[in-house]
Amino acid sequence: MTTSDRPKRVLAICYSQTGQLARIAHQVLAPLRENPKVDVHLEVLRPVPAYPFPWPVFRFFDAFPEAAHLIAPKLEPLDLKGGEDFDLVILFYQVWFLAPSLPVTAFLKHPMAISLLKNKPVVTVIACRNMWLMAHQKMKCMLDGLGARLIDNVVLADRGNVFATLLTTPLWFLTGRQAGFLGLPPPGIAPPEILHAQRFGLALQNALANDAEKSAAPLLAGLKAVEADARLYFTEQAATRSFYFWGKLVRAAGEPGSWIRKPLLFLYVIFLVALIVTVIPANLALQALIRPLLGKQLARMKHDFELPSGSGDERMSNYVI
Ligand SMILES: Cc1cc2nc3c(=O)[nH]c(=O)nc-3n(C[C@H](O)[C@H](O)[C@H](O)COP(=O)(O)O)c2cc1C
Repeated sequence: MTTSDRPKRVLAICYSQTGQLARIAHQVLAPLRENPKVDVHLEVLRPVPAYPFPWPVFRFFDAFPEAAHLIAPKLEPLDLKGGEDFDLVILFYQVWFLAPSLPVTAFLKHPMAISLLKNKPVVTVIACRNMWLMAHQKMKCMLDGLGARLIDNVVLADRGNVFATLLTTPLWFLTGRQAGFLGLPPPGIAPPEILHAQRFGLALQNALANDAEKSAAPLLAGLKAVEADARLYFTEQAATRSFYFWGKLVRAAGEPGSWIRKPLLFLYVIFLVALIVTVIPANLALQALIRPLLGKQLARMKHDFELPSGSGDERMSNYVI
């Protein structure tokens, strides 16, 4: 069988706690799975030990030092053997503390990752609250290190207000209830947006049929793949520095889960809350004041963060679902 006769092989990587990212993966993969000319291998990551959901407060904050320093947890053995040859890789990931989530980092640091991803076209699909800019920088570095070719990036984020989601999202993770609070809307990605993620699977299916994954051009341009809010970059940068610095301190104190990390984490949470209620509003207010000066820089940053897929919508009408 020549390469043009055989079905296209797609590797999808996913981990999901609440089921949100799993539902997005399901929508994106549905058209590919239904197509007899495409073979989809979905690898669901299983960290050891499993991360709890809902999170006890200490466990939640105890995850940030390793997330910030990209220190991967162990994974249960993968179903993959390592010698497989995929035509396209779809990496679904969520953001944890402004970095790719630890289970996904663990996959990228797995000894098998290089043979699976080297020279392969990779599509990343992010689902998060709304702060993903620094995480994606880290993701790009890890993919570069593996010799993978990032050809598309899709981002689905909570459309709620930055401040409202800063309250409702942690409440969701700590209580397990995805509910509104004090009149604020429930956190998470709106169900119609999850449903419409199917357009990406349809477009990928068409691209694979035309061997378009072999070229360097994005396959998902014109589909409103990503909308970057560059104003959040400065806040993310400040918070990442603090995660990195405090993470180093906490890691020096002990291993994840050890009681000796608790007092340091407690101090850090106070510091973090102070940071959130001061730095984010101060940053946004300052940017609003100097917007005429920053306008061009922000527009350039927005454009760069939206690469390679972009925020254009010119092909949306081809994929009405
Ligand atoms: C420990 C932890 C840290 C998180 N940090 C961020 C973050 O820095 N930025 C962000 O936009 N979302 C953040 N989120 C939200 C996740 O990216 C994601 O949307 C949510 O966990 C749902 O994913 P799931 O499919 O795994 O349930 C965080 C979630 C958890 C559990």
